[in-house]
Amino acid sequence: MEKTKSLPINGTDYIEFYVGNAKQAAHFYQSAFGFQPLAYAGLETGLKDRTSYVLKQDKIILVLTAALTPESTVAEHQRLHGDGVKVIALNVDDAKESFETTIKKGAKAYMEPKTLSDDNGEVVLSGIHTYGETVHIFVERKNYNGVFMPGFVKWEPEYQPEDAGLMYVDHIVGNVGWNEMDTIAGFYKDVFGFDQLISFDDKDISTEYTALKSKVMANDNMWIKFPINEPAKGKKKSQVEEYLDFYGGPGPQHLALATDDIVKTIDALRSRGVDFLHVPETYYDTVTERVGEIDEDLEVLKKHSILIDRDDEGYLLQLFTKPVEVRPTFFFEIIQRKGAKSFGKGNFQALFESIELEQESRGTL
Ligand code: FE2
Repeated sequence: MEKTKSLPINGTDYIEFYVGNAKQAAHFYQSAFGFQPLAYAGLETGLKDRTSYVLKQDKIILVLTAALTPESTVAEHQRLHGDGVKVIALNVDDAKESFETTIKKGAKAYMEPKTLSDDNGEVVLSGIHTYGETVHIFVERKNYNGVFMPGFVKWEPEYQPEDAGLMYVDHIVGNVGWNEMDTIAGFYKDVFGFDQLISFDDKDISTEYTALKSKVMANDNMWIKFPINEPAKGKKKSQVEEYLDFYGGPGPQHLALATDDIVKTIDALRSRGVDFLHVPETYYDTVTERVGEIDEDLEVLKKHSILIDRDDEGYLLQLFTKPVEVRPTFFFEIIQRKGAKSFGKGNFQALFESIELEQESRGTL
């Protein structure tokens, strides 16, 4: 039987966060993560209920949006969930067709197709709901050559710190509720035509105390990878459960950003004040037995607490930040792939123990 093709997607277009103070968040992503100022929309451009700052680093675009009034839907979202990801926007050739196809296959509409235009051309947008209050917006920008999209002006502050070598979105992980993983994985299979790459159960991802389950859904060109986690029963509270409690339901847990020089990137991020999870020194005593020969100097990786894992096709280097919001919810992963297509299963044990230490300090274990 011929394999069904997934919905045509060219990649992640942008990630939009709803935050309490977009101006200060934009400064954080500039100064700490090296994002470059791109575009702005707010009172000056005719918006009444919100302000957005758009930042870019290579192919990664972040939109930081905050409410201007208590009635704004952005304010309500932020009140319920704290700062977090609202929109995972996907770049497509035809936003109307993407909408119609996904709606026909059972998706719930968030935004009917609409065309925005200005002197630089036009952008077509449409949107559907996914887990929790998170949405996907389909962005068709092939007939547009402005800075971001109509309604935005170029944002050119004097302050433009250097980038940190972050290149593109590797994957975006969603946390969903108890026994919801199969439903959401099924949504990506039925509505988007994604395939399941891998699944992990509580035997793979558990420590003595806490556990989770995960299924990784991906499109056919593998540019879109969405691991979906649900909590699993352990002696103590799963990190996914802690997220659900503080986020007030399902939502994006982490964004993995790729670099081709992880040592340089982590060095830059650390020096700019990004906090990473602690990796026990003993991790490096046995890692070579598990991953074999690698190009990098192990001492250098140890110095930066960079984790290593291998699969049949190669290896990968990765590290996770602590949550970047006041609530213990959303965080970033920095990843460098050297052939490996997997997600670092061999590091789950060390990582979970580190996360548990953090949870314990928050009194949420
Ligand atoms: Fe990840």
